Parts: sequence; C-alpha cells; structure tokens
Amino acid sequence: MKGRVVKRTAAIVALLLGGFTVVQAAEDAPSDPGKAKAVYARNCALCHGANGGGGVGVSLKKLAERRSDAEIEAQIKEPKGAMPKLYPNAVTDADLHGLVDYLKSF
Ligand code: HEC
Repeated sequence: MKGRVVKRTAAIVALLLGGFTVVQAAEDAPSDPGKAKAVYARNCALCHGANGGGGVGVSLKKLAERRSDAEIEAQIKEPKGAMPKLYPNAVTDADLHGLVDYLKSF
C-alpha cells in the first residue's frame, strides 16, 4: 500500500517538474512575435482583460493616444496606484519593449 502512495507522489512530482521545465523553456526562448502576448496573458490579463478592455485594472484601449512609450514603461517598472510591481521578475527587461508595443495594439 505504502509503495503505491510513494509511486503516485513520485508521478505527481514528475508532472509538476515537467510542467515547470516547459514554462522555463518558453521563457528562455529568443524573442518571437507571440512572446509579448504570452507575457501579457500570464501577468496582466487578469486585471486588464484578455483584450485590454479592463476589469479590476483600467482599460488599456487606445493607450497609445494617451501615453508615451516611456510613460507605459514607467508604469510597468514602478506602478502607480493598485497595480502590482511585476518587473523585473515576471516581466523582464527583455520583455519590456515587445510588451509596450503589444499594449499599444489594443
Ligand atoms: C492586480 C491588478 C493589475 C495587474 C496584474 C496589472 N495591472 Fe496594470 N493597472 C492596474 C491598475 C489598478 C491601474 C491603474 C493605476 C492607477 O491608479 O493609476 C493600472 C494601470 C496600468 C497602466 C496605465 C494605464 C493608463 O491609462 O495610464 C498600464 C500601461 C498598465 N497598467 C499595464 C500593465 C501591464 C503591462 C501589466 C502586466 C505586466 C499590468 N498592468 C498588470 C492593475 C493591474
């Protein structure tokens, strides 16, 4: 009986580690067009909506008409208000430029 539990635990651990490796590999990949979208979906969509329409966070629609690249970057690096600081851990320097461009596409 005990052996089965150990085996199952080992399987779960292997699954978790496997999933983790996949995420790591995706993050280490050189910049590709889908990258900014993935970074946004993982870190920002929860509050700003899958298509930037807003929710808990403000709408990012027509952001380019309201904010300069520098202002958008500043908000990500040192967020004002209730927005959490996701830089430089979840959002890295390598992500920034592509992410700003992606936000301006909403
Ligand atoms: C926990 C919710 C939350 C998350 C997660 C979040 N934001 Fe925000 N964001 C906010 C809130 C709230 C504001 C408004 C801040 C204020 O009071 O000025 C905001 C403001 C902004 C603004 C400024 C909008 C404007 O009109 O000036 C930008 C740009 C932005 N967020 C981008 C992002 C990006 C990119 C991410 C992901 C890396 C992200 N946010 C993640 C809640 C969030």
